[in-house]
Formats: sequence, C-alpha cells, structure tokens
Amino acid sequence: MRVNADQPVAVVTGGNRGVGREVCRQLSLLGFMVVLGSRDLRRGELAAKELDPEGNRIIACQLEVDNSVSVASMAEWVKNQLGRTDVLVNNASTVYDRWATASSADLGTVAEAIDVNLFGPWRVIDALLPMLRSSTRPRIVNVSSEGGSISVMTGGSPAYSVS
Ligand SMILES: NC(=O)c1ccc[n+]([C@@H]2O[C@H](COP(=O)([O-])OP(=O)(O)OC[C@H]3O[C@@H](n4cnc5c(N)ncnc54)[C@H](OP(=O)(O)O)[C@@H]3O)[C@@H](O)[C@H]2O)c1
Repeated sequence: MRVNADQPVAVVTGGNRGVGREVCRQLSLLGFMVVLGSRDLRRGELAAKELDPEGNRIIACQLEVDNSVSVASMAEWVKNQLGRTDVLVNNASTVYDRWATASSADLGTVAEAIDVNLFGPWRVIDALLPMLRSSTRPRIVNVSSEGGSISVMTGGSPAYSVS
C-alpha cells in the first residue's frame, strides 16, 4: 500500500463495525488513508473490503487495545507501511453492562472495561504519539458517551459509565 506524501493517515480503533466502521467510511471519503483497526483481522479485512472494494483507501490492521503487544505492533506496522499518522480516533469500547448497578457490580468486569475503555486509548495514544507529533495537523479524537457524563450518572451500567 502506497500513501502520497501529502495524504493524511487516520487510525480508527474498533473499525470493523458500528460507529467505528462509519467513521472509517467517512474519513476515507474525505481523502484520508484509513487504518481500520480490528481485534479480529479477518473481520477487519472484510469490513475494509466492503467499504473500499478497490483496496486503496482503507486497510485493515490487527489491533486489540487492551494488549500492549498488539498496540506496539500496529504502531510499528503503520510506521513501516505508511510512515505517518495524522489522526487517531479512539472508538473501540467494550460491553455496555446495562444489567448491572454500582452496588452489585462485578469488579472484574469493571476492571476489564477500564482496561479497554480507559487504558486502551491511552496505550494507543502513547504508541502513535511520535508520529502524531511529526504531523502538521495532528488530531486525537476520544469517542465518549453520555453514559460517562457525571451529570447524568445514576449508578447503572457501572463498567461502561466509569470507564
Ligand atoms: N452506539 C451508540 O449509540 C453510542 C452512543 C454513545 C457513544 N458511543 C460510543 O461510540 C463508540 C462505538 O460504539 P458502537 O456502538 O459502535 O460499539 P460496538 O458496535 O459495540 O463496537 C465496538 C467496537 O469496539 C471493538 N472492541 C471491543 N473491544 C476491543 C478491544 N479490546 N480492542 C479493540 N477493539 C475492541 C469491537 O470489536 P469486535 O467487533 O471484535 O467486538 C467493535 O469494533 C464507543 O466508544 C461508544 O462508547 C456509542
């Protein structure tokens, strides 16, 4: 995959479905070379193929944000293949524990959510920061949720809300 020297590169986490998939589609239409991060590479490749059948605007990359080795490999791969990162969209998130409340929460589930939803973006930012710092127009977009808003927090969905 070749990228023009002036073509911006965007990395999207959890790009194989949902909001992330649509973000990949729209960024590609805006002229970005999009790295569609997916923890299951095959699912990522399928999504990339559906969105960009010619395969010259969206490329899938294995990325599991709660796995430091996977995050480091992704950053290395982007550096070697594309040479730059201008935009990072931290979109991936783990299950929405609608069934739980703070007083009955399984703290193991909460810890897993924090590893994906809080430390995940943090890991990916750390790994891509050197390339982002080299960009003339770097952007980091951390996708959040009203569920994480303190003003509307009730104690429901504790793992999702807190993380
Ligand atoms: N949908 C909404 O109404 C809504 C509202 C407010 C905010 N948001 C926010 O928007 C973002 C996307 O939401 P969504 O509804 O599109 O979610 P979704 O459909 O559940 O998709 C979540 C994505 O994150 C990926 N993911 C989960 N764990 C991961 C991990 N450990 N490493 C890498 N990727 C992982 C999933 O991969 P797999 O396919 O492998 O599971 C999937 O691609 C989230 O940050 C969410 O909080 C959504």
